[in-house]
Amino acid sequence: MEGLARLEYRGYDSAGLALIEGETDGGVASGVAVRKRSGKLANLKQLLQDSPMPESTTGIGHTRWATHGGPTDENAHPHYGGEDDRLALIHNGIIENFHSLKTSLLEQGVSFRSETDTEVAAHLVARAYDECKDLTEAMRRVVNDLEGAFTLLAVHADEPGVVVAARRNSPLVVGIGVGENFLGSDVAAFIGHTREALELANDQIVTITAEKAEVIGFDGTPTEGKAFHVDWDAAAAEKGGHSSFMEKEILEQPTAIASTLLGRTDAEGALVLDELRISEEQLRAVTKIVIVACGTAFYSGMTAKYAIEHWTRIPCEVELAHEFRYRDPVVDQHTLVVSISQSGETMDTLMAVKHARELGALTISICNTHGATIPRESDAVLYTHAGPEIAVASTKAFTAQITACYVLGLYLAQLRGGSYAEEAQQVMRELHEIPSKVETLLAGMDRVREIARFMADTRSVLFLGRHVGYPIALEGALKLKEIAYIHAEGFAAGELKHGPIALIEPGQPVFIVVPGPDTPHGLHGKVVSNIQEIRARGARTLVIAEEGDEDVVPFADEVIRVPQAPPLLEPLLTIVPLQVFAAELASAKGLDVDQPRNLAKSVTVE
Ligand code: F6R
Repeated sequence: MEGLARLEYRGYDSAGLALIEGETDGGVASGVAVRKRSGKLANLKQLLQDSPMPESTTGIGHTRWATHGGPTDENAHPHYGGEDDRLALIHNGIIENFHSLKTSLLEQGVSFRSETDTEVAAHLVARAYDECKDLTEAMRRVVNDLEGAFTLLAVHADEPGVVVAARRNSPLVVGIGVGENFLGSDVAAFIGHTREALELANDQIVTITAEKAEVIGFDGTPTEGKAFHVDWDAAAAEKGGHSSFMEKEILEQPTAIASTLLGRTDAEGALVLDELRISEEQLRAVTKIVIVACGTAFYSGMTAKYAIEHWTRIPCEVELAHEFRYRDPVVDQHTLVVSISQSGETMDTLMAVKHARELGALTISICNTHGATIPRESDAVLYTHAGPEIAVASTKAFTAQITACYVLGLYLAQLRGGSYAEEAQQVMRELHEIPSKVETLLAGMDRVREIARFMADTRSVLFLGRHVGYPIALEGALKLKEIAYIHAEGFAAGELKHGPIALIEPGQPVFIVVPGPDTPHGLHGKVVSNIQEIRARGARTLVIAEEGDEDVVPFADEVIRVPQAPPLLEPLLTIVPLQVFAAELASAKGLDVDQPRNLAKSVTVE
C-alpha cells in the first residue's frame, strides 16, 4: 500500500492488490486473495479495513488509469486468470490485439468478469501455466502473442514466493533489497526499502523471489538487467509538510535548476558533456535540430528553440511528438532529434524517438527519470536532475528541462566555434545565478497567492507573451486548465490583433509576460503597447515584469515583479508566478492540486 501510494500519481481511477494466501515453504499455497476498488487509493484502504487481507510475503498491486473499460470495481486490477483463480495479473499499457484474442478465448468457453484487455492476458498466462507448470515460461509464451505496449506482472498460487514480470514499451524497474526484491513502474514504489535498482530493456522478462532477480529475453535467452543506484531517497518523494506535492516542487526549483547545471563545466568554465556518448564529429555535422515532446515538456522545447537557434545558428524545429510521429518529417543522419520527457515513458514521445531513429536521425533524450524507456531507446541522454516529480502538473521538471536544453545548446555552440562559442561560458555564468534569483522570487509570492484566491470564481483567463514569453504564456494557461479546470488560453502577443483581441471584454483577466527592457528589436515596447490595447478594452491586466520596469505601471492592474535576467533566461523566472497562481487558485477552489481529474502523470498509452 505504501508503494501504491507513492505511485498513485501515475493513475488513480482504481486500485487493487493480490497476495499469495496460505504460503508454505517450497510447496503450493492455498490461493490468491484479491481486493480491488474503483476510485482513489483511499477506497482500497477502506476495503482492506472492512475485509483484511491474509498475511503474506508475496504479492502485486496496481493503481489504474482506465483505458479499456471504465473505472469500475470489476475493471480494477488485479485480474484473476484461469478457472480456479490461482493466478492474478496486473497490467499497464494497451494490448492492441486483445479483441481477437478475447474472441478466441470466448469461443473456447472462457468467461470474462471485466471489460479490460488485461483479463485476456490473465487467462492466457493461466492457460499457458496449466500446460507448462512454470510461471516464467507461461509468461514468455504469452507475451510473444501480444501486440501493443505492456508491463505485466503475475503471481500464481502454485509458485508462492515468485513474481514474474514482462515489459514491452512500458515502464518497469526492479528494486534489489536484502532478502527482499521489488518491482515497480518507477523506483518511487520501493524507494522506502532500497535505492539499488535494475533497469530492464524492452522485451525482457524478470522473475523475482526474495533472494534473486533473473532476467530473460522474450526468446528465452538469459540476460542481465543494468544495475543503478537511485540518487534520491524516500524523503524526496514525500510532501515534507507542504500542502501539496505541487507546492513543494515549485519551491524546489532553485535546487532543480542548480542540480541540472552541476558538473557540466570544467575548471576553466568550458562545457563538458561526456555523458552524451555521441561523437563531437557527429554533433558538428548536425544541420538541423528537431525537438519532440508533449504538454509542458513541449513548451520547454518551444522556449529552448529561441536560445538554441540564437547560439548555434542551427535551424531548430519543435513539434508535438504525436504529430511528428504520424507525418512524413524531413529527417536524415544530420538531424539531431531531441526528445524532452520528465517521465521518460510518454508513449507519444517514445514513438516519435523510434520513428526518428528509423529515419536515421541522431537522438538525444532530455529526461528526469533514470532507467526510463525513452533514454534507453535514444542514442544519448542528458538527464535533468530535478528529483522525483510527483504532482501531475509539471513544474520543477519544466524549468530543469529548459536548463538542460540550454546546456545542450551552449555545448553545441561551443563545439561549432564561432562568436557564440565565446558567449557560451558567459551564459553559463548567468545561468548559475538563476537559482538564487528564483529563490528570491519565491520568497515574494504573497500577492500572487492573494490574487489567486480572489480569482477563485473566474471562468476564463488569457495569457499573453512574446518571444520566450510566448511559450511561458502557453505553459501558464496549461497549468491553470489542468489543475484549476478554468478555461485558459495563451497567445503570442503579436497575434492579438489578428483575432484574439475580440475576446477582450470588461473585466477579462489577462496575464501578460513582459520581455525585459533589454530584449532586442524593441519587443518590450511592443508588448507594453499590447497591454494598453487590451486595457483600453476593459481587460484586467496582470503584468509580469522585471524589477525596475516602470513602463508597465500606468497600464497594469497588478504588477508581479521578477528579478532582472538576460532575455533568454527570463522564462526560468517568469513561469514561477504562473505556477504559484495556478496551484493557489486550485487549492482555493478546494480541488486536488496533485491529482487533477482525468489526468495521469505518465501517459504510457498513445
Ligand atoms: C503538464 C504535464 C503534461 C506532461 C506531458 C509530458 O503539467 O505534466 O503535459 O508535461 O504529459 O510528460 P513527460 O514529460 O513525462 O513526457
